[in-house]
Amino acid sequence: MAAVLTVRRTQDKKPALRPTVLSAFSGEIVCWQKSHGRNSLPWQNTRDPYLVWLSEIMLQQTQVSTVLDYFARFVQRFPTVSALAAASQDEVLALWSGLGYYSRARNLHHCAQVVMALHAGQFPGSAEQLQSLPGIGRSTAAAIASFCFGERVAILDGNVKRVLARVLGYGADLAQSANERALWDQATALLPDQDLPDTMPRYTQGLMDLGSTICTLRQPKCLLCPVQTLCRGLAAGDPVSLPVKTRKLKRSAQALSLLWAQQPDGSVWLEKRPVPGIWGGLYCLPVFESDDALKDKLPSPLHARLVPLPRFVHVLTHKDLHLSPWIAGFRAGQAMPKALQPGLGGGAWFGPAAWPALGLPAPIRKLLAQDRSA
Ligand code: ADE
Repeated sequence: MAAVLTVRRTQDKKPALRPTVLSAFSGEIVCWQKSHGRNSLPWQNTRDPYLVWLSEIMLQQTQVSTVLDYFARFVQRFPTVSALAAASQDEVLALWSGLGYYSRARNLHHCAQVVMALHAGQFPGSAEQLQSLPGIGRSTAAAIASFCFGERVAILDGNVKRVLARVLGYGADLAQSANERALWDQATALLPDQDLPDTMPRYTQGLMDLGSTICTLRQPKCLLCPVQTLCRGLAAGDPVSLPVKTRKLKRSAQALSLLWAQQPDGSVWLEKRPVPGIWGGLYCLPVFESDDALKDKLPSPLHARLVPLPRFVHVLTHKDLHLSPWIAGFRAGQAMPKALQPGLGGGAWFGPAAWPALGLPAPIRKLLAQDRSA
């Protein structure tokens, strides 16, 4: 009988927040964060919205360990929002190169320019206003506002959805927007309501820390969890089954052929990728849908100088790219045939000394690092 009741509860559309959870949850998270959370990351212990914003954008879909180096390089090169706004998009993409999801970098640059142009170089002081800026969604706006201004606003990124769905025993399908909205409401109800300048940053960080270190996707460490006694998912015996999200993005595969045109001095033809599209705004070897499409575009006298390189797979979040590179030796000063030049005129020969400062997709950078001059 108890089991039946439990199952029904985890499928509630809008579980009523039990008074015990409501009164105890935020306090437990705040207290746990102080002693067990992460407190010395380079973007913590500051209330500078520029640094917090930069870190939050970098941390979207990316692990802390990966972000650390990128964050340090960005802050060194662009210590202020004004320095970032004044940079070229190429330079921003070059520093972002390897971090993936390049729309984040384009939005980051655009956002810096909007802050300069419309907000006199100051990030706006509320989550609602922050959310109107390019690339800042509801959860990121809330993270910045709670960390920097102590605003009482809820975050709900993937990790936090998992924590809350489990604690609340919320088994409704989060693929449906009404259910996700209901979870936002619950997340708001659970926020601290006292001493906000201190508790909000800690609470927000605590939820993030709990989601990434304790309440993990597959093997949550429930025995170490500060809210284990409040957790309905644990009480029901199967916290890992939560949250429920039915609409799964299907992985796909795409084959792309790459032309590595090289002159005797080692310079390589690179062109700017169109936006939107894969690697939008980055410099790249010319990309073709197939080996045949590449050969069709290449004038036949060059066919004899076309050599296939080993194919390789580059894994993106929702797609496997099967890359097939071809190297073609051009003579010194030989022009790139018109048929191979992009309409935008964004292609040029770049020597190896120029590559580090260009925004290149990670697999292209790796490929070029193999020395083919011999
Ligand atoms: N993920 C998103 N924001 C984060 C933060 N501030 N600290 C650690 N991980 C995060």
